[in-house]
Amino acid sequence: MIQPDIDPEAVARFRRMLLAWYDSHQRNLPWRQTKDPYAIWVSEIMLQQTRVAVVIDRYHAFLQRFPSLPALALAPEQDVLAVWSGLGYYRRARMLHKAAQFVIEHHNGVLPSTVEQLRLLPGIGAYTAAALASIAFNRPVGLVDGNVERVLCRLQDWPGTGRVSGPTLRRKVEILANQLVHPTRPGDFNQALMELGATLCTPRRPQCLSCPVAVDCSTRGEHKTTPRPPMLSTQVACALAVRSAAQPCPSHLEVLLEQRSTDESVMPGMWQLPVLHDPQVPSAQLRMTVRHAIMQVNYYVRVRTVLEDDVDALTLLQGNRRWVPLAEAGSVALTGLARKILTRAHLVQPSVRKPAAAAQRSHEP
Ligand code: ADE
Repeated sequence: MIQPDIDPEAVARFRRMLLAWYDSHQRNLPWRQTKDPYAIWVSEIMLQQTRVAVVIDRYHAFLQRFPSLPALALAPEQDVLAVWSGLGYYRRARMLHKAAQFVIEHHNGVLPSTVEQLRLLPGIGAYTAAALASIAFNRPVGLVDGNVERVLCRLQDWPGTGRVSGPTLRRKVEILANQLVHPTRPGDFNQALMELGATLCTPRRPQCLSCPVAVDCSTRGEHKTTPRPPMLSTQVACALAVRSAAQPCPSHLEVLLEQRSTDESVMPGMWQLPVLHDPQVPSAQLRMTVRHAIMQVNYYVRVRTVLEDDVDALTLLQGNRRWVPLAEAGSVALTGLARKILTRAHLVQPSVRKPAAAAQRSHEP
C-alpha cells in the first residue's frame, strides 16, 4: 500500500523501481520508437480493445497508407474503414478520421498537447487524452486503463471489478495514478504501469516474484474481482456467392457483397456477405463454420455456397448489393466477419499475420 499524502519517499521509490524495470524490460514496440504525436495517437486508438500483436501489423499498414494527419483527414471515410477492416470497433476509425479533420479545421493541422484541448476532439476520452498528453507531449498526467486499474487496485488492496469499475473506485484509482505519475518522465511511467499489467501483473497467475514493485504491494497475488458476465452465443448463416465476371473475361471471379445501411448502429456502411433466411444449413451445402466474437456475443456462423440464381430466394436483403471482383474485395471496407470468411475460403489475402498464441492484450480483455 502506498499513501502518497503522507509518504513521499514511498512514492519516489515506487517511481524509481518501476522505471528501472521498464528501462530494462520493456517490449520493443514500434510506437515506442517514434516521437510523432500523430503516430502515437494512431497506436493508442488501435490498442483499445485490441491485442498488441494484432496492432503491430495494422499500425504499419495504416501509417503507410495515411502517413500524416493531413493525409488521414483528406482521405474518404470508406478508405479509412477499409484499412481498419478486421480490427473491429469501427467507431474508433470513424472518430479518428473525424478528429483529424477537426484538427485541420480548428488547430491548423497541429495536434493540441493538453488534456483539456485533446478531450474536445471527437472520440478522445479521458484515457486517450492522458495517454497523448503524457506520451507524446510529456505532460505530467496519470492515466487509467484496465491494466493500470488492476495494478493499482492490487497495490492498495482495493476490490477490483475485473472490467469497468464503478465511478467511486475509478475516481480513487485516477487520483492515485495522478499522485504517482513521474513528474519528468510521465509517458514512460504510464507505459510502464500498462506494461506491468500486460506482462507480469496479469489478471490470472500474476508473476509477483518478478515484480519490481512487490515490496509496496498489499496483495502480492490475485485479489477479489467480480467475475465477468458470460458470453452470449447466437447462430447465423450467410451466403458465399461467387460468379464469373462478364468483363474483362469470365476467368475473373466476383463475389456478392452487401453494404450495411449507414443508419445501422453497428458497423454502418461496412460490406458484409448476404445473410441467409434460414440459419440451419443442410450439411451437404455447408462450406464452413466460423466463430466470430463481437463484444459479449459469440456468433456461430454457417457459410453456404449459393448460386447466383438462388441468391434472391435464399437471402435477406439488408442493403445495397454489388458483385465485387475478387481482386478488389480485399481493399473494400469489409466487416471483420466477411474478411475472415473470404480469407478462409482463400478468396482474399490475409491482411494480418496470425498473432502469437501467448500474445498479451494491452488492455483488459
Ligand atoms: N496500452 C495502450 N497503450 C499502451 C502503451 N503505449 N504501452 C503499453 N501498453 C499500452
